[in-house]
Amino acid sequence: MLKISFAPDSLPTQNTLVLTVASKGALGEQGKKLDKKTGGVLSRAMKAGAFDGAKEKILSVLCPAKTNLSKVLLVGIGDPAEADAPLFACIGGAIFAALGKDAQATVLIDKFADLGITEAEATAHTAFGARLRSYGFDKYHTKQNAEDKPHLKSLALACKDPAAAKTLFAPLDKVADGIMFARDLVSEPANVLYPETLAQHAFALTALGVKVDILDEDQMKKLGMGALLGVAQGSVNPPRLVSMQWMGDKNPKNKAPVAFVGKGVTFDSGGISLKPGSGMEKMKYDMAGAAAVIGAIKALASRKAKANVVGVVALVENMPSGMAQRPGDVVVSASKQTIEVVNTDAEGRLVLADALWYAQETFNPSCVIDLATLTGAISVALGHEYAGLFSNNDTLCDQLSKAGKNVSEPLWRFPMGEAYDKMIDSPIADMKNMGDGRGAGSIAAAQFLQRFVKKNAPWAHIDIAGMAWLDKDVSYCPKGASAFGVRLLDRFISDNYEAE
Ligand code: BES
Ligand code: MN
Ligand code: ZN
Repeated sequence: MLKISFAPDSLPTQNTLVLTVASKGALGEQGKKLDKKTGGVLSRAMKAGAFDGAKEKILSVLCPAKTNLSKVLLVGIGDPAEADAPLFACIGGAIFAALGKDAQATVLIDKFADLGITEAEATAHTAFGARLRSYGFDKYHTKQNAEDKPHLKSLALACKDPAAAKTLFAPLDKVADGIMFARDLVSEPANVLYPETLAQHAFALTALGVKVDILDEDQMKKLGMGALLGVAQGSVNPPRLVSMQWMGDKNPKNKAPVAFVGKGVTFDSGGISLKPGSGMEKMKYDMAGAAAVIGAIKALASRKAKANVVGVVALVENMPSGMAQRPGDVVVSASKQTIEVVNTDAEGRLVLADALWYAQETFNPSCVIDLATLTGAISVALGHEYAGLFSNNDTLCDQLSKAGKNVSEPLWRFPMGEAYDKMIDSPIADMKNMGDGRGAGSIAAAQFLQRFVKKNAPWAHIDIAGMAWLDKDVSYCPKGASAFGVRLLDRFISDNYEAE
């Protein structure tokens, strides 16, 4: 694990120094000092390397004259007045990635007169981003390739007020714990991580003061969860429904919790409506919504958030077999509404229908937010830049969009309405589990979910199918499981439920 420490902003004399530079190559207070000491090496290197201090750009200056430093990495922050916390998290990630084979380094967040946030904030978020980028999942490599191994062992961050930076970093470090936990869960293969073992991982949150309840198949049968159980019946791995309550708000007036609901399909083969073989291995990440919810609850409990939050995750495996449900089957959901299963690969919404109903019936929440890798269509619309947002409530949308923007987990809202809702009417049951397949697939899925939301209950659905797994590195996350949603949900709670 990357060791992170905070130090006063005196210039280090050896090893690697990372120094922030503003746009047009403007050096800060310490940068100017070092430039002078080296006889202008930094200025000349920036000119020679056409380095202009643009956001996240990096220039490496080796063995600068008149110092014992082995390397100075200049890292651009762009216009200091516009530099904000999410940018520094990205800069932290870019720094980690650029440090190559260095075992240890000191990052100096330099002083600029017009920096948009305090140096302490910038420092804390830089550390956060570096930690997020340092993630790796290599437990199944028996022969470690030294080239691939994350290199940097310890990172010191220097600024004017290291004590303040350390204090600001503490809760971010807890959020990072939640993110790492979620990434690990998503990365695990489906033969290791199936409903029972995923439920066990959620149960471990008990140690943080979270009340965890696990429903088994019989209990779900008693509650009439025919939609969830229909998906589960084709697999030898029995389903689980897990709830995690974090009641951190000690004010007795604010009782009703916020509910997070996550899709936890530990493997989605498509069922009898079998998916094509190519790329099917990726469907181990079809539990990323559940992982994000578990990770968010871990983050909130770890940093002792002053809010009441409950996470509900529906855990099933979607498999074809002689026991599997067939296209055309009609199931009865816990809400008593009937569903014609026209496609067994549209299983996420079936599972969520019962989980949403259960969350509302059991916890009477003030609002419900579900996260799911629900539709391939969402990446047709948005690619891998935004998650889709669907909701019956403008205020909730604004709160979520704002939180997302502030943590580099952006959301884009889609329309909903009666005309779309009609798409899922069925001739034989109250509804069918997909539209005609000729468009608006992500909206049809959201309309389906909304039929399981109680009248006037504020609800939002976030389709993370395009965001849960990265095919290439981004600054704050190496390729693979992203744990998209953990930062978002944590920030949504701190912005809207923890204010004095
Ligand atoms: N888990 C998939 C959606 C998905 C696709 C997630 C790609 C991540 C990457 C979901 O269960 C699914 O199969 N959806 C179908 C719905 C269709 C049958 C209406 C889809 O998107 O094709
Ligand atoms: Mn599916
Ligand atoms: Zn699925």
